[in-house]
Amino acid sequence: MTAPRRIGLLTGGGDCPGLNAVIRAVARTARGRHGVPVVGIEDGFEGLYEGRMRELDYNETATLIGEGGTMLGTTNKGDPWHYPLPGENGEVRIADVSDRVLERIREAGLDTLVVVGGDGSMHIAARLAGRGVRVVGVPKTIDNDLAATDVTFGFDTAVSIVSEAIDRLTTTASSHHRVMVIEVMGRYAGWIALAGGVAGGADTILIPEIPFRWASVFRHVRERARRGRRYSIVCVAEGAKLPDGGEVVKATDERRTDARQLGGIGEVVATRIAQGTDLETRVTVLGHLQRGGTPTAHDRILATRFGVAAAEAACRGDSGVMVALRGTGIVPVPLQEAIASLRTVPPAHPLVQAARAVGVRFGDEMPPATDGGASR
Ligand code: F6P
Repeated sequence: MTAPRRIGLLTGGGDCPGLNAVIRAVARTARGRHGVPVVGIEDGFEGLYEGRMRELDYNETATLIGEGGTMLGTTNKGDPWHYPLPGENGEVRIADVSDRVLERIREAGLDTLVVVGGDGSMHIAARLAGRGVRVVGVPKTIDNDLAATDVTFGFDTAVSIVSEAIDRLTTTASSHHRVMVIEVMGRYAGWIALAGGVAGGADTILIPEIPFRWASVFRHVRERARRGRRYSIVCVAEGAKLPDGGEVVKATDERRTDARQLGGIGEVVATRIAQGTDLETRVTVLGHLQRGGTPTAHDRILATRFGVAAAEAACRGDSGVMVALRGTGIVPVPLQEAIASLRTVPPAHPLVQAARAVGVRFGDEMPPATDGGASR
């Protein structure tokens, strides 16, 4: 493959600490080392469809390493195969605008597209590659749920924020003898709740991968109170399944690549604990605090390594690949492999086992109910 004359770069999906460090690394490596200009595309695939893009100046990337967010902007909408257009009567019409997007790429002279995004963006990247576009992916998500890479950037920052929030909640929980429920992000995977909960010393962690029972959660909270610890910290992932199997969905929006907006399980869990134990409960939804602000040093380094590797791959003429961390090295993996499955928490994962060893409960500790489900 020949080297590209121009590289297009976009960030897609939810933002994430470290995106700017990737932008900086791609722009500097491509321009500085290979003399290939990088065109920044605004607001992800939406900006690509609308043709909103401009060449990045080497100097404007100077202070990006520690900045949160993305200087290019991003959106959860704009999938070229599921694109929200205004309908005739003001309603939204979902359309396939992929042909127009391909035209835009040609018109702008973008020989390679570097897509920085999560699962949804990698699916779009793979479809574009299937239509002949040279694409290099960079894995991003605080949820850490991309299977092909050991870890994504943004995750470490989110875990640090959760851990600090639990530290703060613990002192007020213990002063007031309350059960504090903290709801954290994690749509399909409980990595943030697991790692953040362990780091913060949560007593109970509820994640999508380990079905929980109310009776088990109540029992642990009551046992702690009986042993003199009249407070508990319950860390719940937004995507954890209720005992009846349901998720708590806050809203749906068909314009989004993934229509469902999760949120609200913390309130459900807190209410049920208050009813089931008579202990005072409060709920904190950490929400977008987990995505905003400055990345940790770990995420800055990982994002930089990913950005350098993506620029190198693009300048080599690679296509249809995503850069991934495997062990200590960054390697290109086929996009098809990257989108084949999500990386969820194996219920017997060493961190789950370590958590159990230090007394963390996952709400699955009781034997199955023999009372027709009354204790659920
Ligand atoms: O995928 C990352 C993520 O932070 C999820 O954990 C969360 O469900 C989602 O994004 C929230 O998206 P939005 O900012 O669009 O509400």
